[in-house]
Amino acid sequence: MSIVTSSSNPEYVDLVRDDFHKLSQSYDLLNNFMSLGTDRQFRYIAIKNMIPEKISPLETILDIGTGTGHLSNEAFKQNTGISVVGMDISHSMIEYCKDRDVYSAGSMNLVLGDAAKTPFRRHAFDGVMSGFVGRHFTDYPSTLHEHNRIIRKYGRIMMLEMGRRATRLAPIIDVYVGQMMSLLGKLAVLIVTRGKAPFRLLEETYARFHSPEELKKLYNDAGFITRYKLGLMGSIVVMLGLRK
Ligand SMILES: C[S@@+](CC[C@H](N)C(=O)[O-])C[C@H]1O[C@@H](n2cnc3c(N)ncnc32)[C@H](O)[C@@H]1O
Repeated sequence: MSIVTSSSNPEYVDLVRDDFHKLSQSYDLLNNFMSLGTDRQFRYIAIKNMIPEKISPLETILDIGTGTGHLSNEAFKQNTGISVVGMDISHSMIEYCKDRDVYSAGSMNLVLGDAAKTPFRRHAFDGVMSGFVGRHFTDYPSTLHEHNRIIRKYGRIMMLEMGRRATRLAPIIDVYVGQMMSLLGKLAVLIVTRGKAPFRLLEETYARFHSPEELKKLYNDAGFITRYKLGLMGSIVVMLGLRK
């Protein structure tokens, strides 16, 4: 695993790293519990839409904020010829990737690094994807500019996240995700980690996250042609696109 220490916003990145370090051991359990297992379904749909069935065996995809490797593993399940680089700011989180099939099969490399300032050469990837990470990007224009730099021409981009203000049910979803899920999360984290992990991330990042239309504009401004799909009454968004 290579180590890259530079980051776009060191204080915020330290805060996120610290929270995920404390959560890493129980991340999979908490994720399952809080999403009632629906997160797996959304990773499946996101990958199905991002990666065509007849993929060239040499395709290399970067999974930003790979965490414990669920998204990369789903990509590998659907396309065993694929090669994935998993990047994350948290060493503790990616240690758990090593349990995934994609890693055991030798189809995944792991790198420590920040989405806004990656260590990769220009046009290094056929695609860049992320699952439930986009809420943590503090500077979208420069982060997407960086993604544009490392993807080849007509390469793919995909971001799976919780959607905000996407449908008329938005106020109800805001209460559910922003308050109820957050409360459930805090409770679960307190029990599972015996009070060791803070749980400030979901509520804060959700409240300031962009709507799908705002995201589409940010991606378009950064040189991507995008469309998006919504799931679970607009509470999930899958941004899909091509680099121009
Ligand atoms: C909610 S987890 C998602 C993990 C995984 N993608 C999944 O689908 O389960 C978010 C992950 O993003 C990482 N992360 C947050 N901000 C990041 C950044 N700026 N660059 C790289 N990774 C980041 C965190 O350390 C954490 O592992």
